[in-house]
Amino acid sequence: MKVLIATEKPFAKTAVDGIREIVENAGMTLALLENYTEKEQLLQAVAEADALIVRSDKVTRDVVEAAKNLKIVVRAGAGYDNLDLDACTEHQVVAMNTPGQNANAVAELAVGMMIYMARNQFQPGTGTELRGKTLGVHAFGDIGRLVAGLATGLGMKVYVYHHRFKGSELQTDTINGVDSPEELYKVSDYLSLHVPARPQSIGSIGKSLLSLLPTGACIINTSRKEIMNEQELEEILAERTDLKYASDVAPDNQAVLKEKFGNRVYATPKKMGAQTKEANVNAGVAAAHQIVAFLKEGDRTFQLNK
Ligand code: 3PG
Repeated sequence: MKVLIATEKPFAKTAVDGIREIVENAGMTLALLENYTEKEQLLQAVAEADALIVRSDKVTRDVVEAAKNLKIVVRAGAGYDNLDLDACTEHQVVAMNTPGQNANAVAELAVGMMIYMARNQFQPGTGTELRGKTLGVHAFGDIGRLVAGLATGLGMKVYVYHHRFKGSELQTDTINGVDSPEELYKVSDYLSLHVPARPQSIGSIGKSLLSLLPTGACIINTSRKEIMNEQELEEILAERTDLKYASDVAPDNQAVLKEKFGNRVYATPKKMGAQTKEANVNAGVAAAHQIVAFLKEGDRTFQLNK
């Protein structure tokens, strides 16, 4: 059996070493396609693969169709908007992710971005502190929970909203649960987005919510850029000259935002939320274990296309 790691943005070497050990101990072989720049390279590499490990690499229908022997693809990470699940299902390919494995890295980045924005992107001048400010966590999954914990440690007041729970179900000694996004946005000096990209969430964060934010608020987006209505973001930043926006990966209109709003906006040049050695090892090794467990024992835990 041949396992292929195809990563346009490579894993840390320790993660590849860890994956190799698991795969080879299971009597399988490992192939590596890193830093590729052309889709054609991916199409050729998958031709022989029985199993595939990817990060944000797009596993589109043509990739699935080129992978004649493919039985399983694992997205080493949480968001699986890069996998064509219908194509996988049609070709009897099991698709999985590795939820939670890189969550801490993203949570730390979200907090880092809050501090970076509070300190004027480390430009000279007087900044502010996070202690005593209110953080709103929009969506309370693996990452949202960790961000809430870190923010509590920093002395922030934490509010959370999750569409599947009532506020009272999320309430703890340190967390205030609310029943609607509107309630959340009204109180959030910092608003941290952790909404997964799904058809119903694409473009769902727009003017009606952002206009509710308190004076001087800062939006931190370490989820997908696609959940933001970028046109409305531009409009609200123009109307509300007190608001700031920082995101992991530039929105499509970043050049315009930068020109119009300068240091009120910030975006990482390449998605870096999960770009730590630890997250790479956690997610990569989990992916390898899941592949071996599926190919040897038929274990379908974490299957997405059921
Ligand atoms: C995820 O969905 O797990 C993160 O966005 C990480 O993506 P990456 O593997 O491309 O860094």
